[in-house]
Amino acid sequence: MKIKIGLIGLGTVGTGVYKTLFNSPEVEIVKVAVKNKNKQRNIENFDESILTDNPYDIVNDENIEIVVELIGGVEPAKDLILTALNNGKHVVTANKELIAKNGEEIFDCAQKNNRVVLYEGAVAGGIPVIMPIKTILSANAITKIMAILNGTTNYILTKMDVEGAPYEEVLSEAQKLGYAEADPTSDVEGFDSAYKIAILSAISFKKRIDINKVYKEGISKIRPQDIKEANELGYKIKLVAQAQLNNDGSADVRVHPMLIKKDSILAHINYVKNAIIIEGHPVGSIALSGAGAGEFPTASSVTGDILAIANEIGKTDYPLPMMRCTHSENAVMYDINDTVNKYYIALSVKNKKGVIGRLGAICAENDISLSNIVQKGVEEDNTADIYVITEQAKERDIQRMAEALSNDETVNAITGFIRVAD
Ligand code: HSE
Repeated sequence: MKIKIGLIGLGTVGTGVYKTLFNSPEVEIVKVAVKNKNKQRNIENFDESILTDNPYDIVNDENIEIVVELIGGVEPAKDLILTALNNGKHVVTANKELIAKNGEEIFDCAQKNNRVVLYEGAVAGGIPVIMPIKTILSANAITKIMAILNGTTNYILTKMDVEGAPYEEVLSEAQKLGYAEADPTSDVEGFDSAYKIAILSAISFKKRIDINKVYKEGISKIRPQDIKEANELGYKIKLVAQAQLNNDGSADVRVHPMLIKKDSILAHINYVKNAIIIEGHPVGSIALSGAGAGEFPTASSVTGDILAIANEIGKTDYPLPMMRCTHSENAVMYDINDTVNKYYIALSVKNKKGVIGRLGAICAENDISLSNIVQKGVEEDNTADIYVITEQAKERDIQRMAEALSNDETVNAITGFIRVAD
């Protein structure tokens, strides 16, 4: 007998899941909840009699053993998942926002009902990363993750690099091509990456991560000039999601643009690709990369989760113990102001004698040492552009220096401020 599945959501990923599992010998999708039953579907010979516009028909259906939630967002997804669990169903979801914000409630409810919630599709589309961290890497002390977890922003930054085009132009082209949402805020302002790195750091560090304390900055202030200068200095600019477990046990989890050395792995991850670099002991450093979104790559993760559960049903009283939530301690979240980084700073300055001297003095007054400094020729309006990269410096010192620079009469504006990876 095939295991009966209910699918909530038949968008891009849901369609991929449906097509992948069609004719599966192990499972059968018996009901699909959609918003609009009359919408044209991109599925050959689709049996519309299995459609419902009430998702509670699925979570309350006695015959369904696995509920697959693919609608995203917190509500009604949260209530649907909790209802499904309380009705004794296992759950598969790709909902990064819900897991990042309400993981504790969801996993407590799953445990109370002896059911599992799997969410491989929530992070990095088709790249297997949740299951590897929870199973084959489980003996490791994972201390650091550096990742590109958002395809939209990586596409935009790659295009800006290749074409020298400004952010707004590339974003609008990406929207026309369907690579960016009509409302791109979640992607371009770093929310999407923050949910994903919060999930990865929680399962890697085995501590709860407060999503409200994950520092995030998006890519909307990056200029083509910054990308060009970074190239000349030997770097690419990427939106990096980073998590580090400090020696004192605190978790430094953040998302912001970074200058990444051109010869590093992340610098070679272009367009909509994602990548995750995990550092741990005893494994050392490993890199996973592939398609971070899309119909079939994400369906690969979602269907893998479905089949993992389906293969346990009826064979054990306690399915998939390694895939359950095994931690309950809240991480102490490290404040961005306490971090130490290198920084790229771009300045528009007045063409005056002694400007470089002033810059040096302000750096010294704030305990900042520079490793690179470039001045580009004087412009017609009698201004010049200066680009610096600092040595390791405290964020608080840099912020104080940036304020002093902004207030200095030789400086017109700070035009770029981006952290630099080691
Ligand atoms: N919006 C995401 C991205 C894909 O651009 O990578 C879904 O998680």
